[in-house]
Amino acid sequence: SWTTGNVIEEQVAAIRERVGDKRAICGLSGGVDSAVAAALVARAIGDQLTCVYVDHGLMRKGETEQVEKDFVAATGVKLVVVDAEERFLTALKGVSEPEEKRKIIGREFIRVFEQAQAEIIADEGPAVEFLVQGTLYPDVVESGGGTGTANIKSHHNVGGLPEDLEFQLIEPLRKLFKDEVRMVGQELGLPEEIVQRQPFPGPGLGIRIVGEVTKDRLDLLRDADAIAREELTAAGLDRDIWQCPVVLLADVRSVGVQGDGRTYGHPIVLRPVSSEDAMTADWSRLPYDVLARISTRITNEVRDVNRVVLDVTSKPPGTIEWE
Ligand code: XMP
Repeated sequence: SWTTGNVIEEQVAAIRERVGDKRAICGLSGGVDSAVAAALVARAIGDQLTCVYVDHGLMRKGETEQVEKDFVAATGVKLVVVDAEERFLTALKGVSEPEEKRKIIGREFIRVFEQAQAEIIADEGPAVEFLVQGTLYPDVVESGGGTGTANIKSHHNVGGLPEDLEFQLIEPLRKLFKDEVRMVGQELGLPEEIVQRQPFPGPGLGIRIVGEVTKDRLDLLRDADAIAREELTAAGLDRDIWQCPVVLLADVRSVGVQGDGRTYGHPIVLRPVSSEDAMTADWSRLPYDVLARISTRITNEVRDVNRVVLDVTSKPPGTIEWE
């Protein structure tokens, strides 16, 4: 019968056998799937696995630290963190158009990842022959039965993987659904914040700033997003909502009154949604008192923000993200 214990045992044995004394690499995104896949492979082959995490500077507050500290502490995994914030911000300078932002972020991500990969491969160790991917069962089905190719998840991941890929794939979650993956992650001792994480887009906060992406605006949005997440968690709503993008309308200003004076600041949009699979979604009917707390705190605590608005659009017609 199916138990998480069995799944882990079987996978660990199979991965050990397959990898032998070779090495594997795995890209970590901060999401559940790549984290659980990496933790499973790390359990099997220890430091024959190297994980790569690209910090593009578009993560939310605390997320990079979660990977750098908590994930490493829980798994003992060998992790290379590439600090690429400046590179991404430079590439995004002056860009407001959503698709262009996505393309730039995807392109830079692949470049940085490949460079890190090349450095790992070039060192003295045994051959790096395997690439670990957090492909789930629904991903396999969605892309037509699963051919074992590397770009199965390209519609989910930032930009996908290069086509001339020379690695063999290890996909230990191929037969699992999301809730099963969370159970496996829990059994492997991963922190709750990683295992129960809601979906977050690969391009990160870069597509939650309507307008140009700058460090200053990212910091501001990070503060607002942290407040919203904190209050939703405190209200026990994390499992009821699918996700709640927090969006900064950097190109919009409105008049407000704060303290003793007139302000001319930016609106923050809350976009809480309920969904089964993100294909369709409904706006979440959050309790008014929770919305009130979030609004009061954001306007009090986040500089340059004088208005909080609620997105009450279903998908369709609105997508979950604003860009
Ligand atoms: P939309 O905005 O299309 O989003 O309704 C559907 C779901 O996908 C997430 N999303 C992404 N995830 N890379 C990802 O890994 C992306 O480029 C991306 N764009 C959107 C979004 O957060 C929602 O859960």
